[in-house]
Amino acid sequence: MNTVKTVRELRAAVARARSEGKRIGFVPTMGNLHAGHVALVEKAGQRADFVVASIFVNPLQFGPTEDLAKYPRTLTADQEKLFDAGCHLLFAPTVEEMYPHGMEGQTRVSVPGVSEGLCGASRPGHFEGVATVVTKLFNMVQPDLAVFGQKDYQQLAVIRTLVRDLNMPIQIIGEPTVRAEDGLALSSRNGYLSAEQRAAAPALYRSLSRIAEALRAGECNHAALVAAGRLEQEQAGFRPDYLEIREANSLRPAAAEDRQLVILTAAYLGATRLIDNLAVDLDHPA
Ligand code: PAF
Repeated sequence: MNTVKTVRELRAAVARARSEGKRIGFVPTMGNLHAGHVALVEKAGQRADFVVASIFVNPLQFGPTEDLAKYPRTLTADQEKLFDAGCHLLFAPTVEEMYPHGMEGQTRVSVPGVSEGLCGASRPGHFEGVATVVTKLFNMVQPDLAVFGQKDYQQLAVIRTLVRDLNMPIQIIGEPTVRAEDGLALSSRNGYLSAEQRAAAPALYRSLSRIAEALRAGECNHAALVAAGRLEQEQAGFRPDYLEIREANSLRPAAAEDRQLVILTAAYLGATRLIDNLAVDLDHPA
């Protein structure tokens, strides 16, 4: 696996692979990789001949009070994981390489609708930062397909929408969330949890599972389900940010007659904000 740091080197390496007739798969990340990222790279390897990953902690998607400075940078360990997962090329640019003219006047990509509410409400500017950097990365790599985790459900919806609206010829693949044995969704942010918080953390997924079970059993009082879910989170030591039931494709608030639903949550354990979601298809209850 080769690691390149400049757009020039990246384009040259991808052009070589393409001239050999290879289909290009892409997995953008912010590094500090875990088994969830490895699954994304492996999926790209099943669908493409040449897998490119990127590691870039994108300042544009962090708010002024968020954890940009302390976001873990673990390049050497990440390179090993990517190599083992079958990645062929890693793009690990500096901030100057990604934003050579600074971030202030940088052209931005905003995706209305699906970016609003949920994490969009709690983290103003976050999805504009994500959509902008993903658009830049897509233009740099020009992949045939790109793989994203379903754990960031709203982010995946934002990216699907931007690819559709901006006519990008890129297939977007959503890969199921990888969970620890106790149900906690794998996340780089789990590393911030103390032992005690880590023991409490699976309650987040439990609260979603209980709501999913009730929906499958025919309960349609969403407000009551959400109130019980928030209480369950609070009793486990969380401070809920949001817990909502939405229509799974549009992300608009769910109506009683909707059949494809997704329950989404974000909640704080101490200073660490965790997110999770669970999709429920009432036409095909599991
Ligand atoms: O999900 C992430 O790691 C980031 O939001 C992404 C898609 C790599 C953009 O910086």
